[in-house]
Amino acid sequence: MLQIPSINFESNTDFTHMVNKITVVGAGNVGATTAQRIAEKSLSRTVVMVDVAEGIPQGKALDQWESAPVELFDTRVVGTNGYDETAGSDIVVITAGIARKPGMTRDDLLNTNASIVKSVCEHVKNTSPNAIVIVVSNPLDVMCHVAKHVTGFPRERVIGMAGVLDTARYRSFIAEALDVSVQDIQAMVLGGHGDTMVPLVSYTTIAGIPIRQLMGEEQLAAIVQRARDGGAEIVKYLKTGSAYYAPSSGAVEMVDAIVRDRKRILPCAAWLQGEYGMSDLYLGVPCKLGRNGLEQIIEVELTSDEKAALEKSANAVREPMATLKF
Ligand code: NAI
Ligand code: 2OP
Repeated sequence: MLQIPSINFESNTDFTHMVNKITVVGAGNVGATTAQRIAEKSLSRTVVMVDVAEGIPQGKALDQWESAPVELFDTRVVGTNGYDETAGSDIVVITAGIARKPGMTRDDLLNTNASIVKSVCEHVKNTSPNAIVIVVSNPLDVMCHVAKHVTGFPRERVIGMAGVLDTARYRSFIAEALDVSVQDIQAMVLGGHGDTMVPLVSYTTIAGIPIRQLMGEEQLAAIVQRARDGGAEIVKYLKTGSAYYAPSSGAVEMVDAIVRDRKRILPCAAWLQGEYGMSDLYLGVPCKLGRNGLEQIIEVELTSDEKAALEKSANAVREPMATLKF
């Protein structure tokens, strides 16, 4: 008799370490890649992708779901043009909006994306009133402000993704320059998600060794500048859009920290209420993320140069905030 070998179907699914539903709004480059990474890491039972473009979220979701038997995940991926399917989401990642093209700054996206994020957040407020919202749409810090204002959610539940991406770029460039593992680079990029972002050189270490012991000032300055220009470098290559592989990794690292209650310390955009001597704006600062969302903002000592750079970066966020119409 024919013996059928038993198939070792080792699914990634671990139902104790997942939430019920995660919604990703915007099924474009960042959104679709984010949904895929969430499914492949089995962070929720269902991932819902929402987009205004007819057929796009449905098609991408089905395509991703059809990869499940190969990638071994049981997370159902669903696409829709409405919000019924998103109801009761634990986490909502907002990537809806237009992306940068060559010659455009993130602030050029301001009013278009503000009205998109506003309409998305009105739906989220009504359909998922207990969700933790992670904003990705640009200009990031100002869009977080729109999301917090429109949802009325507390700051613990409206957080922005940019610092994880900016730090990942900085870490990848250092690892390449020193020919060491990315795993051994500890670093943090704070401030607004723009040209004024603040890589904290004084806290950059390689397996605990301060970076200045391993790298000269000139090379370090070039890496800091490349990290600041990291988004533009990709736009210049792609021409028709902006980065999405590293941005979706950044968003999903935050989702993972929340879902698995990891208490990770990650640089995220948070609504400041006196921290770092600033109030009433979103800015990238070290945040502890766990099942309750933003659980703590960590205040670290900064050099006088870093303090001045953070203040300058805050002003670069306040400026578009003041002109915002939504
Ligand atoms: P994309 O153009 O590929 O996708 C955007 C999607 O949003 C499109 O599919 C569009 O149909 C959809 N959309 C527009 N209005 C909508 C609405 N009202 N409701 C639902 N969906 C809507 O753009 P991509 O590359 O995915 O970038 C998305 C956003 O993320 C951009 O604003 C971009 O600048 C930003 N971004 C932010 C990063 C960060 O570090 N915070 C990094 C990379 C991108
Ligand atoms: C990036 O940094 C465009 O914000 C986007 O790649």
